[in-house]
Amino acid sequence: MKTFKIALIPGDGIGPEVVAEGVKVLQAIEQLDPAISFSFTEFPWGCEYYLEHGKMMADDGIEKLKGFDAIYLGAVGYPGVPDHISLWDLLLTIRKEFDQYVNLRPITLLNPALTPLKNKTAEQIDFLVIRENSEGEYAGAGDWLFKGKPEEVVLQTGVFSRKGTERIIRYAYEEAKRSNRTLTSISKANALNYSMVFWDEVFEEVGKEYPDVQTYSYLVDAASLYFVTEPERFEVVVTSNLFGDILTDIGAAITGGMGLATGANINPERSYPSMFEPVHGSAPDISGKGIANPIAAIWSVSQMMDFFGEEKWGKAILSVIQEMLHEKESLTSDLGGESTTTQLGDRFVELLAARSSELV
Ligand SMILES: NC(=O)c1ccc[n+]([C@@H]2O[C@H](COP(=O)([O-])OP(=O)(O)OC[C@H]3O[C@@H](n4cnc5c(N)ncnc54)[C@H](O)[C@@H]3O)[C@@H](O)[C@H]2O)c1
Repeated sequence: MKTFKIALIPGDGIGPEVVAEGVKVLQAIEQLDPAISFSFTEFPWGCEYYLEHGKMMADDGIEKLKGFDAIYLGAVGYPGVPDHISLWDLLLTIRKEFDQYVNLRPITLLNPALTPLKNKTAEQIDFLVIRENSEGEYAGAGDWLFKGKPEEVVLQTGVFSRKGTERIIRYAYEEAKRSNRTLTSISKANALNYSMVFWDEVFEEVGKEYPDVQTYSYLVDAASLYFVTEPERFEVVVTSNLFGDILTDIGAAITGGMGLATGANINPERSYPSMFEPVHGSAPDISGKGIANPIAAIWSVSQMMDFFGEEKWGKAILSVIQEMLHEKESLTSDLGGESTTTQLGDRFVELLAARSSELV
């Protein structure tokens, strides 16, 4: 029996609502598969904690999380706490401290009816974005000089180290090679004359070690256009922190919206826990109403199972999501259904259980 230790950070707004459904799925797996068990430890960190304690997480929070196999996070951020505080003092702190330098964002259309793009099939929208997750434009480096004075100057510095750039690009080549897919690098060397010229050089340099991987290189503006007009161009994509953040929201838009978008923050060396989260925020406009779509959070569980080496469960979760996306009445209102968050989770577990005999 394998036991995986999972730290839960449900966070703010709809975070706890969707994480509860993800945990329901994990508990179902535990019931269905005698070879797997999970232990859960919940941490109350987020904006409410901030308003009470003046900090987003406990001082020894990172130390506390170190011993877990994975972190499962809902969403952080809520009106009343500035977004740059909630983001930097919890989410980005965890990503940086645990060197989760790979962000994996699948852009996969599971039901053609969900894309706003005309005449695009599921085969045409099926790729993986690998976003640099530890430095680049989100390094947090810069300065704010002469604050409030007429000569005020603000500097936000992109940081592209050789180590950081090489390791994300190499990870992407490895993934393309392993899965026998093409690799596209997205950058902007014409305008960003240091960082992106360097990025392109490293992409070419590392590529020499992977002669069998077919590569493409696009400027981010052209790539944004192709995400919408010709998503079939992409199979594996590697890009910087900021470009990846923005492009993957286009990816969410062409595959069914924020309620379906998931992201894994991976420390490939497994020296620290990796973190799994739906990409959406805390959605204050719908929180507490019981109508949040938990599918993105459940998709994160699929990524977590893949990471644990339990790919059969990762795949099973994905195919149940696909099945549910054809069952309109079981979906939440953002996808045109009438179910509540909890009802969707219950139905999900029912369908997963129905498949388990093929798996265990
Ligand atoms: N990873 C994170 O924790 C994360 C990511 C993005 C935003 N945020 C934070 O969340 C707060 C709100 O941000 P926002 O409004 O820009 O983005 P958001 O993702 O919370 O919401 C955008 C829109 O999508 C809808 N939506 C999002 N998730 C949904 C779901 N699961 N089911 C149904 N509808 C859903 C919301 O109702 C809203 O209309 C801010 O404080 C922001 O900083 C956190």
